[in-house]
Amino acid sequence: MTCCSFILKKSSSRQKDKSDEEVLQNVKIYSYKVLRKATDNFSPANKLGEGGFGCVYKGRLKNGEIVAIKVLSSESRQGVREFLNELTVISNVVHENLVSLIGCCVDGNQRILVYNYLQNNSLAKTLLGTDYSNIQFSWITRRKICIGIARGLKFLHEEVRPHIVHRDIKASNVLLDKDLTPKISDFGIAKLLPADMSHISTKVAGTIGYLAPEYAVRGQLTRKADIYSFGVLLMEIISGRNHTNTRLPYEDQILLERMWTLYKNGKLESIIDTSLDGDFDAEEACRFLKVGLLCTQENPKLRPSMSTVVKILEGEIDVDSFEITEPGMITDFMDLKVRQNNQNLAPLVFSAINSPPEASPKSSGDTTHASMSFTAIIDRA
Ligand SMILES: Nc1ncnc2c1ncn2[C@@H]1O[C@H](COP(=O)(O)OP(=O)(O)OP(=O)(O)O)[C@@H](O)[C@H]1O
Ligand SMILES: [Mg+2]
Repeated sequence: MTCCSFILKKSSSRQKDKSDEEVLQNVKIYSYKVLRKATDNFSPANKLGEGGFGCVYKGRLKNGEIVAIKVLSSESRQGVREFLNELTVISNVVHENLVSLIGCCVDGNQRILVYNYLQNNSLAKTLLGTDYSNIQFSWITRRKICIGIARGLKFLHEEVRPHIVHRDIKASNVLLDKDLTPKISDFGIAKLLPADMSHISTKVAGTIGYLAPEYAVRGQLTRKADIYSFGVLLMEIISGRNHTNTRLPYEDQILLERMWTLYKNGKLESIIDTSLDGDFDAEEACRFLKVGLLCTQENPKLRPSMSTVVKILEGEIDVDSFEITEPGMITDFMDLKVRQNNQNLAPLVFSAINSPPEASPKSSGDTTHASMSFTAIIDRA
Protein backbone atom coordinates (compact mmCIF):
# COMPACT_ATOMS: atom_id res chain seq x y z
CA MET A 1 0.00 0.00 0.00
CA THR A 2 1.54 3.32 -0.91
CA CYS A 3 1.30 6.23 1.44
CA CYS A 4 -0.86 8.12 -1.03
CA SER A 5 -3.51 5.45 -1.22
CA PHE A 6 -3.42 5.21 2.56
CA ILE A 7 -4.00 8.93 2.93
CA LEU A 8 -6.84 8.96 0.44
CA LYS A 9 -8.48 6.12 2.30
CA LYS A 10 -7.99 7.93 5.62
CA SER A 11 -9.51 11.18 4.51
CA SER A 12 -12.65 9.40 3.34
CA SER A 13 -13.38 7.71 6.66
CA ARG A 14 -13.84 10.75 8.94
CA GLN A 15 -14.23 10.58 12.74
CA LYS A 16 -12.07 7.63 13.86
CA ASP A 17 -9.21 8.68 11.62
CA LYS A 18 -8.93 12.15 13.09
CA SER A 19 -5.42 11.41 14.38
CA ASP A 20 -4.25 10.52 10.90
CA GLU A 21 -5.58 13.83 9.63
CA GLU A 22 -3.65 15.59 12.36
CA VAL A 23 -0.55 13.84 11.16
CA LEU A 24 -1.26 15.27 7.78
CA GLN A 25 -1.73 18.71 9.26
CA ASN A 26 1.62 18.70 11.05
CA VAL A 27 3.78 16.43 8.97
CA LYS A 28 4.32 16.49 5.24
CA ILE A 29 4.10 13.13 3.56
CA TYR A 30 6.78 12.51 0.95
CA SER A 31 6.94 9.73 -1.58
CA TYR A 32 10.04 7.55 -1.71
CA LYS A 33 10.73 8.87 -5.19
CA VAL A 34 10.89 12.48 -3.98
CA LEU A 35 13.31 11.63 -1.17
CA ARG A 36 15.42 9.47 -3.48
CA LYS A 37 15.76 12.44 -5.81
CA ALA A 38 16.52 14.83 -2.92
CA THR A 39 19.46 12.67 -1.84
CA ASP A 40 20.71 11.81 -5.32
CA ASN A 41 19.56 8.21 -4.91
CA PHE A 42 20.72 8.07 -1.28
CA SER A 43 24.24 8.70 -2.51
CA PRO A 44 27.05 7.95 -0.05
CA ALA A 45 28.32 11.48 -0.72
CA ASN A 46 25.19 12.80 0.98
CA LYS A 47 25.41 10.49 3.95
CA LEU A 48 25.69 12.46 7.19
CA GLY A 49 26.17 9.43 9.36
CA GLU A 50 24.68 6.26 10.72
CA GLY A 51 23.20 5.52 14.12
CA GLY A 52 21.24 2.75 15.75
CA PHE A 53 18.09 3.39 13.72
CA GLY A 54 19.61 3.63 10.26
CA CYS A 55 21.39 6.08 7.96
CA VAL A 56 20.93 9.85 7.81
CA TYR A 57 21.34 11.71 4.51
CA LYS A 58 21.48 15.37 3.62
CA GLY A 59 18.88 16.17 0.99
CA ARG A 60 17.68 19.08 -1.09
CA LEU A 61 13.95 19.17 -1.80
CA LYS A 62 12.47 20.54 -5.02
CA ASN A 63 11.73 23.89 -3.34
CA GLY A 64 15.42 24.21 -2.39
CA GLU A 65 14.89 23.37 1.27
CA ILE A 66 17.80 21.44 2.82
CA VAL A 67 16.71 18.58 5.07
CA ALA A 68 18.13 15.64 7.01
CA ILE A 69 16.58 12.36 5.89
CA LYS A 70 16.67 9.43 8.29
CA VAL A 71 16.03 6.04 6.68
CA LEU A 72 14.91 3.71 9.47
CA SER A 73 16.48 0.28 9.30
CA SER A 74 14.23 -2.42 7.99
CA GLU A 75 13.85 -4.66 11.05
CA SER A 76 10.67 -4.58 13.14
CA ARG A 77 8.48 -2.81 10.66
CA GLN A 78 5.39 -1.21 12.10
CA GLY A 79 2.17 -1.03 10.22
CA VAL A 80 1.39 2.25 8.48
CA ARG A 81 -1.37 3.16 10.94
CA GLU A 82 0.75 2.54 14.06
CA PHE A 83 3.67 4.37 12.52
CA LEU A 84 1.53 7.42 11.74
CA ASN A 85 -0.06 7.33 15.18
CA GLU A 86 3.34 7.43 16.84
CA LEU A 87 4.38 10.19 14.48
CA THR A 88 1.41 12.25 15.63
CA VAL A 89 2.91 12.28 19.11
CA ILE A 90 6.38 13.21 17.90
CA SER A 91 5.18 15.87 15.47
CA ASN A 92 3.20 17.65 18.17
CA VAL A 93 6.28 17.99 20.33
CA VAL A 94 7.55 21.42 19.39
CA HIS A 95 10.16 23.30 21.41
CA GLU A 96 13.10 25.58 20.66
CA ASN A 97 15.52 22.97 21.96
CA LEU A 98 14.14 19.98 20.09
CA VAL A 99 14.79 19.07 16.45
CA SER A 100 11.63 19.53 14.39
CA LEU A 101 10.22 16.69 12.41
CA ILE A 102 8.91 18.08 9.15
CA GLY A 103 7.81 15.03 7.27
CA CYS A 104 7.88 11.33 6.70
CA CYS A 105 7.61 8.66 4.07
CA VAL A 106 5.64 5.44 4.48
CA ASP A 107 5.98 4.18 0.97
CA GLY A 108 5.57 0.40 0.78
CA ASN A 109 8.15 -1.09 3.14
CA GLN A 110 10.00 2.18 3.62
CA ARG A 111 9.86 4.19 6.85
CA ILE A 112 11.69 7.48 6.53
CA LEU A 113 11.73 10.61 8.69
CA VAL A 114 12.50 14.10 7.39
CA TYR A 115 13.95 16.67 9.78
CA ASN A 116 15.19 20.23 9.64
CA TYR A 117 18.83 20.17 8.63
CA LEU A 118 21.06 21.66 11.29
CA GLN A 119 24.17 23.31 9.91
CA ASN A 120 26.52 22.91 12.84
CA ASN A 121 26.26 19.16 13.24
CA SER A 122 26.37 17.45 16.61
CA LEU A 123 28.24 18.22 19.82
CA ALA A 124 29.94 14.86 19.35
CA LYS A 125 31.53 16.05 16.12
CA THR A 126 32.15 19.73 16.78
CA LEU A 127 33.00 19.93 20.47
CA LEU A 128 34.23 16.44 21.29
CA GLY A 129 35.24 15.06 17.89
CA THR A 130 38.70 14.74 16.48
CA ASP A 131 37.84 16.40 13.14
CA TYR A 132 38.71 20.04 12.81
CA SER A 133 35.87 22.39 13.70
CA ASN A 134 36.12 26.17 13.49
CA ILE A 135 33.41 26.71 16.09
CA GLN A 136 34.60 28.56 19.17
CA PHE A 137 32.89 27.10 22.22
CA SER A 138 33.24 30.03 24.59
CA TRP A 139 31.95 29.83 28.14
CA ILE A 140 28.84 31.81 27.17
CA THR A 141 28.16 29.37 24.31
CA ARG A 142 28.63 26.32 26.53
CA ARG A 143 26.38 27.84 29.16
CA LYS A 144 23.69 28.44 26.55
CA ILE A 145 24.07 24.88 25.21
CA CYS A 146 23.80 23.28 28.67
CA ILE A 147 20.75 25.30 29.67
CA GLY A 148 19.11 24.73 26.27
CA ILE A 149 19.52 20.95 26.50
CA ALA A 150 18.17 21.04 30.06
CA ARG A 151 15.11 23.00 28.94
CA GLY A 152 14.46 20.64 26.03
CA LEU A 153 14.66 17.62 28.31
CA LYS A 154 12.49 19.28 30.95
CA PHE A 155 9.91 19.86 28.23
CA LEU A 156 9.97 16.17 27.21
CA HIS A 157 9.85 14.92 30.81
CA GLU A 158 7.42 17.29 32.43
CA GLU A 159 5.46 19.37 29.95
CA VAL A 160 4.58 17.21 26.97
CA ARG A 161 1.64 14.83 27.39
CA PRO A 162 2.29 11.93 27.45
CA HIS A 163 5.74 12.48 28.95
CA ILE A 164 8.62 11.23 26.84
CA VAL A 165 11.70 9.46 28.17
CA HIS A 166 14.35 9.99 25.50
CA ARG A 167 16.45 6.87 26.26
CA ASP A 168 19.57 7.99 24.40
CA ILE A 169 20.71 11.42 25.57
CA LYS A 170 24.29 11.86 24.38
CA ALA A 171 26.57 14.26 22.51
CA SER A 172 25.69 12.90 19.05
CA ASN A 173 21.99 13.46 19.73
CA VAL A 174 22.47 17.15 20.41
CA LEU A 175 22.59 19.09 17.15
CA LEU A 176 23.49 22.75 16.76
CA ASP A 177 21.75 25.24 14.51
CA LYS A 178 23.43 28.22 12.84
CA ASP A 179 23.31 30.22 16.10
CA LEU A 180 24.62 27.27 18.11
CA THR A 181 21.25 26.78 19.77
CA PRO A 182 21.18 23.14 20.89
CA LYS A 183 18.45 20.84 19.61
CA ILE A 184 17.85 17.40 21.07
CA SER A 185 17.28 14.87 18.29
CA ASP A 186 15.81 11.39 18.08
CA PHE A 187 13.22 11.67 20.85
CA GLY A 188 10.38 9.23 20.46
CA ILE A 189 12.02 7.26 17.68
CA ALA A 190 12.41 4.07 19.69
CA LYS A 191 8.62 3.89 19.80
CA LEU A 192 8.45 3.78 16.01
CA LEU A 193 10.18 0.44 15.95
CA PRO A 194 8.39 -1.97 18.27
CA ALA A 195 9.70 -5.48 18.08
CA ASP A 196 7.06 -7.25 20.09
CA MET A 197 3.51 -6.26 21.00
CA SER A 198 3.70 -7.76 24.48
CA HIS A 199 6.83 -5.89 25.44
CA ILE A 200 7.85 -2.34 25.31
CA SER A 201 11.10 -2.79 23.53
CA THR A 202 13.82 -0.51 22.46
CA LYS A 203 16.37 -1.01 19.79
CA VAL A 204 18.66 1.51 21.34
CA ALA A 205 19.86 0.39 24.70
CA GLY A 206 21.73 3.59 25.26
CA THR A 207 25.40 4.15 25.00
CA ILE A 208 28.03 2.92 27.37
CA GLY A 209 29.27 5.82 29.42
CA TYR A 210 25.88 7.55 29.42
CA LEU A 211 23.92 4.59 30.71
CA ALA A 212 22.42 4.78 34.20
CA PRO A 213 23.33 1.61 36.13
CA GLU A 214 19.74 0.76 37.11
CA TYR A 215 18.68 0.96 33.46
CA ALA A 216 21.58 -1.18 32.27
CA VAL A 217 21.34 -3.76 35.03
CA ARG A 218 17.65 -4.01 35.82
CA GLY A 219 16.09 -2.46 32.72
CA GLN A 220 14.37 0.23 34.75
CA LEU A 221 13.68 2.98 32.30
CA THR A 222 12.65 6.16 34.06
CA ARG A 223 13.17 9.84 33.53
CA LYS A 224 16.03 9.44 36.00
CA ALA A 225 17.94 7.37 33.42
CA ASP A 226 17.77 10.33 31.01
CA ILE A 227 18.84 12.64 33.83
CA TYR A 228 21.89 10.45 34.46
CA SER A 229 22.85 10.68 30.76
CA PHE A 230 22.29 14.42 30.85
CA GLY A 231 24.68 14.67 33.82
CA VAL A 232 27.43 12.89 31.87
CA LEU A 233 26.80 15.15 28.87
CA LEU A 234 27.01 18.25 31.06
CA MET A 235 30.43 17.16 32.29
CA GLU A 236 31.57 16.55 28.70
CA ILE A 237 30.50 20.04 27.62
CA ILE A 238 32.28 21.82 30.48
CA SER A 239 35.43 19.71 30.34
CA GLY A 240 35.55 19.37 26.54
CA ARG A 241 36.32 15.69 27.07
CA ASN A 242 34.56 12.49 26.07
CA HIS A 243 33.03 10.39 28.85
CA THR A 244 35.76 7.83 28.21
CA ASN A 245 39.21 8.38 26.77
CA THR A 246 41.47 5.35 26.76
CA ARG A 247 44.46 7.42 25.64
CA LEU A 248 44.66 9.17 28.98
CA PRO A 249 46.49 7.79 32.04
CA TYR A 250 44.55 4.97 33.69
CA GLU A 251 43.06 6.98 36.57
CA ASP A 252 41.92 9.73 34.18
CA GLN A 253 40.17 7.63 31.57
CA ILE A 254 36.59 7.72 32.84
CA LEU A 255 35.44 11.31 33.13
CA LEU A 256 32.81 10.65 35.80
CA GLU A 257 35.28 8.78 37.99
CA ARG A 258 37.85 11.56 37.57
CA MET A 259 35.23 14.20 38.32
CA TRP A 260 34.27 12.47 41.58
CA THR A 261 37.90 12.27 42.73
CA LEU A 262 38.45 15.96 41.95
CA TYR A 263 35.22 16.89 43.72
CA LYS A 264 36.24 15.04 46.87
CA ASN A 265 39.62 16.81 46.79
CA GLY A 266 38.06 20.24 46.23
CA LYS A 267 39.70 20.53 42.80
CA LEU A 268 36.73 20.45 40.44
CA GLU A 269 37.87 23.57 38.63
CA SER A 270 40.92 21.79 37.22
CA ILE A 271 38.77 19.71 34.83
CA ILE A 272 37.31 22.76 33.03
CA ASP A 273 38.32 22.80 29.36
CA THR A 274 41.76 24.37 28.98
CA SER A 275 40.79 25.57 25.50
CA LEU A 276 38.73 28.25 27.28
CA ASP A 277 42.07 29.82 28.22
CA GLY A 278 40.76 30.68 31.65
CA ASP A 279 38.03 32.85 30.14
CA PHE A 280 35.07 31.59 32.17
CA ASP A 281 33.10 32.22 35.33
CA ALA A 282 34.71 29.64 37.61
CA GLU A 283 31.95 29.64 40.18
CA GLU A 284 29.31 29.11 37.53
CA ALA A 285 31.32 26.41 35.74
CA CYS A 286 31.77 24.51 39.03
CA ARG A 287 28.06 24.85 39.70
CA PHE A 288 27.39 23.17 36.33
CA LEU A 289 29.84 20.38 37.14
CA LYS A 290 28.14 19.82 40.50
CA VAL A 291 24.81 19.52 38.69
CA GLY A 292 26.49 16.86 36.54
CA LEU A 293 27.45 14.99 39.72
CA LEU A 294 23.98 15.41 41.24
CA CYS A 295 22.43 13.92 38.09
CA THR A 296 24.72 10.88 38.03
CA GLN A 297 24.30 9.80 41.65
CA GLU A 298 23.91 6.07 42.08
CA ASN A 299 20.53 6.33 43.74
CA PRO A 300 18.06 7.50 41.05
CA LYS A 301 15.81 9.04 43.69
CA LEU A 302 18.54 11.47 44.67
CA ARG A 303 18.94 12.79 41.13
CA PRO A 304 17.07 16.10 40.66
CA SER A 305 14.19 16.47 38.22
CA MET A 306 14.90 18.43 35.05
CA SER A 307 12.92 21.43 36.28
CA THR A 308 15.15 21.55 39.36
CA VAL A 309 18.21 21.15 37.13
CA VAL A 310 17.14 24.15 35.03
CA LYS A 311 16.64 26.23 38.18
CA ILE A 312 20.07 25.32 39.57
CA LEU A 313 21.79 26.03 36.25
CA GLU A 314 20.06 29.39 36.02
CA GLY A 315 21.07 30.23 39.61
CA GLU A 316 17.54 30.18 41.04
CA ILE A 317 18.32 27.35 43.46
CA ASP A 318 21.62 27.03 45.33
CA VAL A 319 23.45 23.90 44.22
CA ASP A 320 25.12 23.65 47.63
CA SER A 321 21.75 23.04 49.27
CA PHE A 322 22.01 19.48 47.90
CA GLU A 323 24.31 16.81 49.22
CA ILE A 324 26.23 15.11 46.43
CA THR A 325 26.66 11.36 46.87
CA GLU A 326 28.84 8.95 44.93
CA PRO A 327 28.09 8.47 41.22
CA GLY A 328 26.80 5.13 39.94
CA MET A 329 28.77 3.43 37.20
CA ILE A 330 28.11 0.28 35.27
CA THR A 331 31.66 -0.87 35.84
CA ASP A 332 30.94 -1.00 39.59
CA PHE A 333 28.13 -3.46 39.01
CA MET A 334 29.79 -5.60 36.46
CA ASP A 335 33.29 -5.57 37.87
CA LEU A 336 34.52 -5.15 34.34
CA LYS A 337 37.03 -2.63 33.12
CA VAL A 338 35.94 -0.37 30.28
CA ARG A 339 39.59 0.53 29.85
CA GLN A 340 40.78 -2.98 29.19
CA ASN A 341 38.51 -3.80 26.32
CA ASN A 342 36.38 -0.87 25.35
CA GLN A 343 35.20 -2.31 22.03
CA ASN A 344 34.07 -5.65 23.39
CA LEU A 345 32.68 -4.61 26.72
CA ALA A 346 29.28 -3.36 25.76
CA PRO A 347 27.97 -6.49 24.03
CA LEU A 348 29.26 -8.46 26.98
CA VAL A 349 27.45 -6.21 29.44
CA PHE A 350 24.20 -6.32 27.54
CA SER A 351 24.18 -10.02 26.93
CA ALA A 352 25.28 -10.73 30.47
CA ILE A 353 22.67 -8.65 32.20
CA ASN A 354 19.71 -8.82 29.93
CA SER A 355 20.39 -11.95 27.91
CA PRO A 356 17.33 -11.73 25.67
CA PRO A 357 17.48 -14.62 23.25
CA GLU A 358 17.18 -12.22 20.34
CA ALA A 359 19.92 -9.89 21.52
CA SER A 360 22.03 -8.78 18.60
CA PRO A 361 24.48 -6.14 19.65
CA LYS A 362 26.18 -4.12 17.00
CA SER A 363 28.69 -1.41 17.27
CA SER A 364 29.11 1.81 15.32
CA GLY A 365 32.02 3.90 16.43
CA ASP A 366 31.87 4.32 20.15
CA THR A 367 28.16 3.66 20.13
CA THR A 368 26.86 0.27 21.00
CA HIS A 369 23.35 -0.78 20.28
CA ALA A 370 21.65 -3.94 21.37
CA SER A 371 18.15 -5.24 21.09
CA MET A 372 16.72 -5.34 24.57
CA SER A 373 13.25 -6.23 25.71
CA PHE A 374 11.86 -4.84 28.90
CA THR A 375 8.73 -6.12 30.49
CA ALA A 376 7.75 -2.67 31.63
CA ILE A 377 8.74 0.92 31.51
CA ILE A 378 8.76 2.04 35.09
CA ASP A 379 8.40 5.72 35.77
CA ARG A 380 8.76 6.26 39.45
CA ALA A 381 10.31 9.66 38.98
N1 LIG B 1 18.67 17.02 11.55
C1 LIG B 1 19.98 16.83 11.30
N2 LIG B 1 20.73 17.80 10.74
C2 LIG B 1 22.04 17.61 10.51
N3 LIG B 1 22.71 16.48 10.79
C3 LIG B 1 22.02 15.47 11.34
C4 LIG B 1 20.61 15.57 11.62
N4 LIG B 1 20.19 14.41 12.17
C5 LIG B 1 21.28 13.62 12.25
N5 LIG B 1 22.39 14.24 11.76
C6 LIG B 1 23.73 13.70 11.69
O1 LIG B 1 23.65 12.37 11.21
C7 LIG B 1 24.54 11.52 11.92
C8 LIG B 1 23.84 10.23 12.28
O2 LIG B 1 22.77 10.51 13.18
P1 LIG B 1 21.99 9.38 13.92
O3 LIG B 1 20.97 10.01 14.78
O4 LIG B 1 21.54 8.36 12.94
O5 LIG B 1 23.12 8.67 14.78
P2 LIG B 1 23.62 8.91 16.25
O6 LIG B 1 23.03 10.17 16.79
O7 LIG B 1 25.10 8.80 16.23
O8 LIG B 1 23.08 7.68 17.06
P3 LIG B 1 21.58 7.37 17.54
O9 LIG B 1 21.06 6.32 16.65
O10 LIG B 1 21.73 6.89 18.92
O11 LIG B 1 20.81 8.63 17.45
C9 LIG B 1 25.03 12.29 13.12
O12 LIG B 1 26.42 12.51 12.91
C10 LIG B 1 24.33 13.60 13.10
O13 LIG B 1 25.27 14.61 13.31
MG1 LIG C 1 20.96 10.55 16.67
